[in-house]
Amino acid sequence: MDRLVIQGGQPLRGRIRVSGAKNAALPCLAASLLTPEPVLLSNLPAVADIRTMVKVLQALGTEAALEPEGEGFELKARLACGGSEDPKAPYELVKTMRASILVLGPLLARFGQATVSLPGGCAIGARPVNLHLEALERMGAVMEISHGYIHATLKGRLKGIDHTFEKVSVGATENLLMAATLAEGTTVLRNAALEPEIGDLAHMLAGMGARIEGIGTGTLTVTGVARLHGCEHAVIPDRIEAGTFLCSVAAACGDVVLDRCEPDHLRALLDLLERAGCVLTEREGQEGRQLRIQRECGQKLHSKDIVTQPFPGFPTDLQAQAMAVMTQATGISVINEGIFENRFQHAMELERLGANLRAEGHRAIVAGPSELTGCTVMATDLRASAALVIAGLVASGETVVDRIYHLDRGYAGLERKLQGVGARIQRIGGGKV
Ligand code: UD1
Repeated sequence: MDRLVIQGGQPLRGRIRVSGAKNAALPCLAASLLTPEPVLLSNLPAVADIRTMVKVLQALGTEAALEPEGEGFELKARLACGGSEDPKAPYELVKTMRASILVLGPLLARFGQATVSLPGGCAIGARPVNLHLEALERMGAVMEISHGYIHATLKGRLKGIDHTFEKVSVGATENLLMAATLAEGTTVLRNAALEPEIGDLAHMLAGMGARIEGIGTGTLTVTGVARLHGCEHAVIPDRIEAGTFLCSVAAACGDVVLDRCEPDHLRALLDLLERAGCVLTEREGQEGRQLRIQRECGQKLHSKDIVTQPFPGFPTDLQAQAMAVMTQATGISVINEGIFENRFQHAMELERLGANLRAEGHRAIVAGPSELTGCTVMATDLRASAALVIAGLVASGETVVDRIYHLDRGYAGLERKLQGVGARIQRIGGGKV
């Protein structure tokens, strides 16, 4: 099993090119099910979750080809979904990636039936799918749950509804948005999530001929059409990958420019890092926007409180990385996890590296700065692993991060990108994504 070995204490200097957003790419891949025509998606990050979603699509009757793009950190996908007699997303694939549930809406909308394994729990909490199912039922789908699978059927087409989500959910908004594009009549989705990945999906759907109003707002109005056509679409830059590099520099010190980054998607983190004492500069670059972060060695960081919330609030997907930064800040930082109930599993591993913190329920308290010292740590989920890498960049001596298959699910070449800015980090084990 691969592991990362890090010699900490090295400031980071140079440039990093941000890859495409995993959490935008996954719904965009699912959206290719809505048309029999070819769909060409580019700027997909070369990570395991993308390959898993392509396997799910293949199981559902899609001809798919993936090719490397650019420097090999991105992929291009050519997809055409002819359909299958018995479209089924199997447990073996769904259990490794919850986002597989995103095929449910498109399959129902186009074929009137779908069988999708229930995703089950995961390391960061229960993560139910009730909001997806309730809204699709209101559109006319009949759901039956048996043998661990959701069996969804439909007479005729899905029907447009006026629906208010009782809770803001990224996945449920995406599933319903896709379903509504081929429904009969108009669907209004209220209390929709505002995450930039939803805007990206909506723009792709519009490029396929979908009629969507209110993109970027909490109310999406979709006028159903009889069919959608093929499209070409490049996914947006990954704000969580960019945020992970910003946290790396904030914790380990240095001066790094992120190329092809969208600062507007990162306001909550930028605000935190600026208040903590980092210098951030935005510029227009040749390939999109650039973001420079500076924290010179010896420059003091100040502790700040963090509350994770739906966008535009502080993202839960950057909570673990920000906690690693706060171990280096002076003072007390109170971190409230407002989205998932079990997302502090990195805390105990950070403690083993020397952090002074306490995590209980939804809240963690970090007292800093702490001198971190390297040891072997084990990751339990994707973003927790990233936090341990950041702590390893700071810690004196050698840190070994074990179980990095979690990292490979969501980061394209993390160690190679960090090596490029001077980090002493090696992958041991020889496997690749
Ligand atoms: C998505 C992201 C994930 C990120 C999360 C929060 C993808 C593929 N995944 O996950 O990386 O961490 O947003 O930004 O983009 N909930 C329900 N019932 C439901 C659905 C959700 O109660 O049917 C609850 C969840 O338990 C959670 C909250 O709503 O407490 C938000 O979850 P949601 O936004 O749906 O997260 P995901 O789409 O699973």
